[in-house]
Amino acid sequence: MREIINGKNLVLGTCYYPEHWDRGLWEEDLDRMLEAGIRVIRIAEFAWNKIEPREGEYTYEFFDSFLDVVEKTPMKVIFCTPTATPPAWLVEEYPEVLNAKMDGTLYRHGARRHYNYNSPIYQRFAANITERSVAHYGSRPCVIGWQIDNELNCETSEFYSESDTVAFREFLKKRYGTIEALNDAWGTVFWNQTYTAWSEVYVPQTTISNSTNPHRVLDYLRFISDSACRFARMQADIIRKYKKPDDFITTNGLFGNLDNHRMTAESLDFITYDSYPNFAYCLDAYNENDLLKDRKWSRNLTETRSISPNFGIMEQQSGANGWNTRMEAPTPRPGQMTLWTMQSIAHGADYVSYFRWRTCTVGTEIYWHGILDYSGRENRRLSELREIHKKVEAMQEIAGTVYEAKVGILKDYDNIWDAQLDRWHERVDRESQKNLFAAAQFTHTPVDFVYLTECTSLTDLRKYDLLFYPHAVILTKERVALLEDYVRMGGKLVMGCRTGYKDLNGRCVMDHLPGLAAKLTGTDIPEYSFVAPDEGKVYADWDGEKVEAAVFNDILAPAGENAEVLAVYENSYYAGEPALIRNRLGKGEAYYFGGAFSLEAAKAFLKRLEAAQPYGKLIGAPEGCEIAVRRKLGTKNAAGTDADDAAYLFVLNYQHEPIQITLKQPMWELTGGEMENGTVTMGKYGVKVYRMP
Ligand code: GAL
Repeated sequence: MREIINGKNLVLGTCYYPEHWDRGLWEEDLDRMLEAGIRVIRIAEFAWNKIEPREGEYTYEFFDSFLDVVEKTPMKVIFCTPTATPPAWLVEEYPEVLNAKMDGTLYRHGARRHYNYNSPIYQRFAANITERSVAHYGSRPCVIGWQIDNELNCETSEFYSESDTVAFREFLKKRYGTIEALNDAWGTVFWNQTYTAWSEVYVPQTTISNSTNPHRVLDYLRFISDSACRFARMQADIIRKYKKPDDFITTNGLFGNLDNHRMTAESLDFITYDSYPNFAYCLDAYNENDLLKDRKWSRNLTETRSISPNFGIMEQQSGANGWNTRMEAPTPRPGQMTLWTMQSIAHGADYVSYFRWRTCTVGTEIYWHGILDYSGRENRRLSELREIHKKVEAMQEIAGTVYEAKVGILKDYDNIWDAQLDRWHERVDRESQKNLFAAAQFTHTPVDFVYLTECTSLTDLRKYDLLFYPHAVILTKERVALLEDYVRMGGKLVMGCRTGYKDLNGRCVMDHLPGLAAKLTGTDIPEYSFVAPDEGKVYADWDGEKVEAAVFNDILAPAGENAEVLAVYENSYYAGEPALIRNRLGKGEAYYFGGAFSLEAAKAFLKRLEAAQPYGKLIGAPEGCEIAVRRKLGTKNAAGTDADDAAYLFVLNYQHEPIQITLKQPMWELTGGEMENGTVTMGKYGVKVYRMP
């Protein structure tokens, strides 16, 4: 059985860097960790030189002696491949392994992640150091799993080296076969961009006004993702040859231009995420208008569990954030470390590992604080960790249960990447993603992100009563067919403006909009416009409720006998025209909304479509706290109906002040070990975990 994320226990860990400390500290550090409840450490992710200090010269002494110390204790180890930091000797001898800026300037040694995935030389070195590490350390009894690299695509998720161009051409040859097909797919007839040979094709380059062929950029983003996935796969295949059977393979982080779902399916046992909610309080990034603040990390955790329903947190905030060159964030206030740990667990983390044990005294991360400060003296954060450990011990029965949601927000990588390169798409998408998630949080409506991939089945969708597909700009016949089946079987689907006007290459379709979604939504769009800045906000009247149709407006017309107009625009030159259409199809309903989703619009949909507050019969709570439920897979779904159900309700108070909640039935609270009922006061940053009746 796996040591963590095994459905049996919740485990705490920390990130440790034996190479940063005097050997004399190792034993004491491990003992103190164990005393505080830490059972696992992650090591070695940047320590290439401790294994291969010069090309072809290997020494295992350093980690051997460290693991010898570890093995005198019950501590377990996640060992990492060190490929995020290629050594100085390597890049000096082989500068072609370096990544480059778009203008060709090389990123030099001195920081991290300065390599490119496609350099055959780097691939050889990375494969070699991986093989050396796992062949030597893989059999150590204390090692329980492997982390590939560190945060793939962190620091930058763009690659413009010469190796990338060579590999991009191969990627495109496989995709299109002939240069003519590529020209056609990319619409190179526009502005005379036609290629006559593959050798003329490059990764995007510096151009006037920074604009370049968008269809090329879309394929480039797919290519970056493919490169990262292949790089992870190469390492995973090697690790798998040597690791002990129960040991797992993972990697950490969720970064851009990377299909994390594919990478996990191909190479990992589960994903882990690095959760730093304190970014919400960075002095430079602090944004008064950001409604969710640290609660926004629940969105990242929602992404994470869309990949692995039970996942790990490889790095959980335990101190202030800061590099000497960027970021100034306060120390987590008393209680916030607990709150953020429970936020992770509420979303399905069964392993939480704090970054890092002791704050580094050298290098760019001297202000990125760990549990301990430089001196290692006893402190408040270590005491809080001990308290967290007690709470987690009292919650062990929730291990292996998963987050429960009846509302889904559909996503797919084609649209995510198209929204990155297309301003019009980006504007509506950013608005709706932000507000749909916030509305779900404020109305205590748990949501999942549901990724549409080639493997998504009707069963995957039928778990949800309501699905939003906010701006499916790019649509395919297959996806529409799946959605139509979902609706016919009784599902409710809501689509927003700008649906269906592009194909998979990002080319606009010569069709009546919303293109492939026209029949499904019973909608025609004779005209559309951005909301004019001098007009302010445009509203729709939905049965007397005034709902903003934000950013962009499709002016609608019902099409087909099952389509009915539910709301009309209130202002602008299209006042009186339809803004919302419902199309009844089979047992279900498809809605087309002409705008992006403002916060009120998102709330209105959740309420009117009867999805809001599914646990309202059990608990009343103010907007400022998050409600989440973890349930045993395979047991009943409706809130609190089955006596055999194992389900747990989390209440997380993000407010800087106490709140009151109302329990409508008595429930056992796990972390305090008491029955609670009626009005309950929760302190600031307070957490409750109830066993649901
Ligand atoms: C993470 C990274 C760690 C450390 C931390 C603080 O992104 O994985 O190695 O750098 O952030 O910056």
